[in-house]
Amino acid sequence: MLDALLDRSIVFSFDRTGHRRHARRFAAHDLDVDLRGRVCLVTGASSGLGVEITRGLFTRGADVAMLCRDVPKGEAVRAALLRDGGTGSLAVHRVDVSDFASVRAFAAGFAGRVDVLVHNAGVLPLAASTTADGLELAVATNLVGPFLLTHLLWPRMLASTEPRLVHVSSGGMYSERLDVEALFAPPPAKGYDGVVAYARTKRAQVVLAELLHERFPAVRSSSMHPGWADTPGVLTSLPRFHALTRAILRTPAEGADTAVWLAASPAAAHPDGRFYFDRAPQDTHRLARTRETAAERAKLWDALCARIGVEPERFGG
Ligand SMILES: NC(=O)c1ccc[n+]([C@@H]2O[C@H](COP(=O)([O-])OP(=O)(O)OC[C@H]3O[C@@H](n4cnc5c(N)ncnc54)[C@H](OP(=O)(O)O)[C@@H]3O)[C@@H](O)[C@H]2O)c1
Repeated sequence: MLDALLDRSIVFSFDRTGHRRHARRFAAHDLDVDLRGRVCLVTGASSGLGVEITRGLFTRGADVAMLCRDVPKGEAVRAALLRDGGTGSLAVHRVDVSDFASVRAFAAGFAGRVDVLVHNAGVLPLAASTTADGLELAVATNLVGPFLLTHLLWPRMLASTEPRLVHVSSGGMYSERLDVEALFAPPPAKGYDGVVAYARTKRAQVVLAELLHERFPAVRSSSMHPGWADTPGVLTSLPRFHALTRAILRTPAEGADTAVWLAASPAAAHPDGRFYFDRAPQDTHRLARTRETAAERAKLWDALCARIGVEPERFGG
């Protein structure tokens, strides 16, 4: 009863006390797992949650490819992770996920099977901008670039005995309804709201994880949100929020925990496209007004395929 009330409060669920309360029901051995031989790709591995997701996989023996737009920054993180120890391998690859050419170049040069792909890279833009591919920056970074990467790596994920795909979304998505028109409209010259643009992409990621599961259940697709974690991204994108909540924010490792669990734990082998928080599936709506129709979901799929230049029926090859 008290737990339900605290969870409904949001603050005392997304914050560090929420993590500690929820962690009491975590199964002790869920992450006692040997990932040797598993090939895991993590985008945005150079900062915040991405560092901790990488650490969580690497220290359990996985071979982790760190997909970073800033290679020297990625290499510095890699050196620190190697110093801390781990039995797997770590390699940094240059990928700007907001840029189709960069995503294509990476996918063309990356050989071998992919067991795990974690779409962690994300941005909450402070101002409106449009990428070379004609997309608003948050849409390109959080949604369409990752979708292109998923598509290009799909045959290599299907070569895995247990492929897992994790989208790092946000609790902010609860405030927005799926709005495909708005996602692909040019950002307004005046009155751009990065928080809304971001939350729309995070809603779309959650729907996309469900759509991928419905269409291709062989790949274990999921989305998750980390709660509120103290990362460089929160500090720079939401400085006032950070100043107000600093004392109660989760550590990056606490924020990353559910993504690591989804990527690695036998207990998370069948996430069924669902949206997770603190290792538990969540309702994807808190407000009736955010519920989308089946037609809107289909429209998202078609729009994403159109943007990456793939026939909607041909995504899976
Ligand atoms: N922290 C939270 O409380 C929180 C809450 C909800 C959701 N999230 C989500 O968690 C994920 C990680 O966020 P974070 O808090 O760890 O933020 P962060 O510290 O800013 O890390 C974001 C990572 O994404 C990378 N990135 C951004 N744009 C990229 C691009 N175009 N190509 C490749 N990499 C790019 C960044 O690279 P650089 O190092 O080069 O900047 C960085 O490694 C995001 O998807 C975010 O939306 C976080």
